Amino acid sequence: MFSFHYHTPTEIVFGRNAECQVGELVQKTQCRKLLLHYGGGSVIRSGLLDRIKAALEEKNIAYTELGGVVPNPRLSLVYQGIELCRREQVDFILAVGGGSVIDSSKAIAYGLANEGDVWDFYEHTRQAHASLPIGVVLTIAAAGSEMSDSSVITKDEGMVKRGYNSDLCRPVFALMNPELTMTLPDYQTACGCTDILMHTMERYFTSGGNMELTDALAEGLMRTVLKNALILRDNPRDYDARAEIMWASSLSHNGLTGCGNSGGDFATHGLEHELGGMFDVAHGAGLAALWGSWARYVWKDCAPRFYRFAKMVMQIPAPDPEEAKTNPSFYEEAFVKETILKGIEAMEDFYRSIHMPTNLRELGVEPTEEQLRTMAHMCSLAAGGVKGSAKKLYEEDMLQIYRMAL
Ligand code: NZQ
Ligand code: ZN
Repeated sequence: MFSFHYHTPTEIVFGRNAECQVGELVQKTQCRKLLLHYGGGSVIRSGLLDRIKAALEEKNIAYTELGGVVPNPRLSLVYQGIELCRREQVDFILAVGGGSVIDSSKAIAYGLANEGDVWDFYEHTRQAHASLPIGVVLTIAAAGSEMSDSSVITKDEGMVKRGYNSDLCRPVFALMNPELTMTLPDYQTACGCTDILMHTMERYFTSGGNMELTDALAEGLMRTVLKNALILRDNPRDYDARAEIMWASSLSHNGLTGCGNSGGDFATHGLEHELGGMFDVAHGAGLAALWGSWARYVWKDCAPRFYRFAKMVMQIPAPDPEEAKTNPSFYEEAFVKETILKGIEAMEDFYRSIHMPTNLRELGVEPTEEQLRTMAHMCSLAAGGVKGSAKKLYEEDMLQIYRMAL
């Protein structure tokens, strides 16, 4: 077991009408003026934005607004936000939306609290030393940005998608009403469920140490998402299933399911970020399209975790992995390989069952060999040359996985 640092300062208000408490929570921050930041229009169509404005006005909270955040949020809007906030003397940012709006808010908050170009942080050429505080009204369960230390921004020029992690950007509060996610298109609900699963899977597939308690939490979370994603596929208005998925979104990416392990793998995320940058695909769908190829490429280097995943998460009938403690050749037995491959196939079957792609063709992109090479090169550069814990991946490995995913 590894030592760990677990920091989750975000105050959560969860349940029906949670967003109605926005005025009180903003008031507690004693901000002078806030930026109301949102996306491409869903919050206008649903009436949520008007309700938030009314709640702020009721408490005499001054605000200015900036909409137009797109999925794979752009650096150009971040710069616009920074300029606007400087002009308006904003000292708090309220994100009303999903991962893209929250991440754009985090980038604006870094830009305001630090000198110089905010993109430096995403290129990892220097570290942020401060951030403005952020609050969230969540409208989609997916990225987990409402509690995470991460933000992912795409630079318009060259469409370079990069993430930056720091505890400084964890939101002060998040208001989470599962009902707000009922207006999501089915595709976005499924993309969200995929991303949530992946945030725990990335931490679970490790060749380093791990903790029994963390494994149990991770496996419980993954089984819960698998079950409730199917309920939502058949009945998108099921409140309890919306609630299970929404809470899973936060717990999957706030660090909880990685405590005591080696830091996780995150190679599928690295590979997807290049795909998302180059082809502007939905993040969850990009992950689903790559995961099976990644899993088939790396499992031999991480057989104990893949075996456990098959049995404990995908519920493939197989002997208890505890037997490995008394049988040193356990992982060389033929049934182990069979179980692992059945586990990978079961996950891909699940993706298909919620209409997620399991390869790039199904995702709707057809990269050329040159584009595959560019993505592998960029992915390896962004990772500092090597990525992954289940198996260490170098540029050539990344290229092989992209090719397998065609
Ligand atoms: O822009 P609007 O009109 O609001 O539409 C959005 C958007 O088109 C729509 N939507 C959101 N809530 C809705 C709704 N439509 C109807 N009703 C609602 N209640 O859904 C679409 C997707 O929204 P987006 O915010 O992009 O989704 P998501 O939360 O999946 O965020 C994706 C972004 O987060 C990054 C991804 O790479 C991607 O850029 N990630 C951020 C992470 C983090 N900060 O911790 C971790 C993740 O691994 C991920 O990389
Ligand atoms: Zn993700």
